[in-house]
Amino acid sequence: MKSQNKWWKSAVIYQIYPRSFADSNGDGIGDLQGIISKLDYLENLGIDAVWLSPVCRSPQDDNGYDISDYQDIDPMFGTLADMETLIEEAGKHHIRIIMDLVLNHSSDEHRWFQEAKKSRDNPYHDYYVWRDGTEGTFPNDMRAAFGGPAWEWVPELGQYYFHQFSVKQPDLNWENPKLRREIYDMINWWIGKGVGGFRLDVIDQIAKEPDKRITGNGPRLHEFLRELSRETFQKADLVTVGEAWGADTELAKLYSNPDNSELSMVFQFEHICLDQEAGKEKWDLAPLPFLKLKEVFERWQTQLYGKGWNSLFWNNHDLPRIVSRWGNDRKYRVESAKMLAILLHGLQGTPYIYQGEELGMTNVRYEMEDYRDIETLNLYRERLEKGYTEAEIMRSIYAKSRDNARTPMQWNDGENAGFTVGKPWIKVNPNYREINAAGQISDANSVFGCYRELIRLRKKYPVYAEGEFRMLCREDENVFAYLREDEEYQLLVICNFHDGTVQNPLGEPDAGMKLLVGNYPEACRGAVLRPYEAGMYLLDKRR
Ligand code: GLC
Ligand code: CA
Repeated sequence: MKSQNKWWKSAVIYQIYPRSFADSNGDGIGDLQGIISKLDYLENLGIDAVWLSPVCRSPQDDNGYDISDYQDIDPMFGTLADMETLIEEAGKHHIRIIMDLVLNHSSDEHRWFQEAKKSRDNPYHDYYVWRDGTEGTFPNDMRAAFGGPAWEWVPELGQYYFHQFSVKQPDLNWENPKLRREIYDMINWWIGKGVGGFRLDVIDQIAKEPDKRITGNGPRLHEFLRELSRETFQKADLVTVGEAWGADTELAKLYSNPDNSELSMVFQFEHICLDQEAGKEKWDLAPLPFLKLKEVFERWQTQLYGKGWNSLFWNNHDLPRIVSRWGNDRKYRVESAKMLAILLHGLQGTPYIYQGEELGMTNVRYEMEDYRDIETLNLYRERLEKGYTEAEIMRSIYAKSRDNARTPMQWNDGENAGFTVGKPWIKVNPNYREINAAGQISDANSVFGCYRELIRLRKKYPVYAEGEFRMLCREDENVFAYLREDEEYQLLVICNFHDGTVQNPLGEPDAGMKLLVGNYPEACRGAVLRPYEAGMYLLDKRR
């Protein structure tokens, strides 16, 4: 199948974390009407689709990743009618809406779970994963991702249920065909409402086998995915992206097989997990191994070429801000934010922009009482008990807390950054007076201007979607450079990751190479690269 036929191969997708994007009614929480009010902004940026983190009905134990009704909107965000309006209005702005499907688990307040725990022979009992046992003796020692055991005792039944995340997120039992059917019907109902696709939460964990301690990549995973795809996605022209922490390139080729049998692509995290001590938790920090970063990107770019499809991302609602992580969020904030954008947006795959990334928004340092995320709160408690010092814990939290990404969107330099007229559910990053959308949208030299240009270029030249990747100066310890090439064009991307001046290992680009985007006001064509300097050049081979 030719790539041209697939709209998402030249698309750029924007992720919205609804509770932190725009609040329309002053309750301090972002909502659907807030998103509708910002469609002009999104159209101006030029994106093709919006991935909405979950907006379905939920007790919000994990900010909506604990769904209690898949076919209704949480009142906090609005109504089903607002959702229909959003889909329709977004369409008028040439934007598709991608929903977040949380299919590994539901909320414990979902009707299915309420029924399931009534008795062992309730028709819904087998929608979840149960094991017999006695109180206090867990079926095994598996731990949940947000801390504590992965098993929760239900005295009425004399059984434990399995949960990979919080106790309020019981795992769904994909072994049960009735559950699967019910999920497909729900998805088809959303397809009928005109959504443009789905992001599938922790999809590599659905085929769990807890007795064997298997969570990710269970034996039946791809069988389940093929059935899911056949029964739902393949009936429409959708983009689907699975969150797969455990995917390597071989698995990614299965997931994103061009024959369309599973998904369009996956989010894999190999480039993300590099600044973590090997074999330890994400909180155990290690410096970024630059050569390793290059190696990871090269491997994914070359191995999936023609055999699968990459997603391209630096950020999401679970990750710290990229400019604070691999850039310099103070002295060279603008330069390094643009450099990271230029690096990513020249690659093959579908780029994702997380809200505020296009402004160069940064991490935050709150007092402990201002953090909201369940994972951060649990980590703080657990590590204090284990004897870590307050300072050590805060260092990890500043670097990795998911709340870094969840601070309200910075719209302008007015109160609460223009996010709400009320009291925001989580504090605004105090740097909003300097970093905000209003100060950037009409400035072509802003971070916003750079993202806008990169999006425009991807639509203009097929080499972005189709060109073959070739790594340059692989061993260079400061510079990340690569080529993309098709029959008509050669695209050259060169990025200095260092916060000082370095020798340009490639020397001056060819005279025929035209600078498309850079991050300094005047292009450098010489033998040195300035701090975080990046350039994207195009050669028209027919000239
Ligand atoms: C995914 C989501 C994350 C959530 C978890 C459990 O990793 O991105 O926010 O907490 O799944 O649903
Ligand atoms: Ca609101």
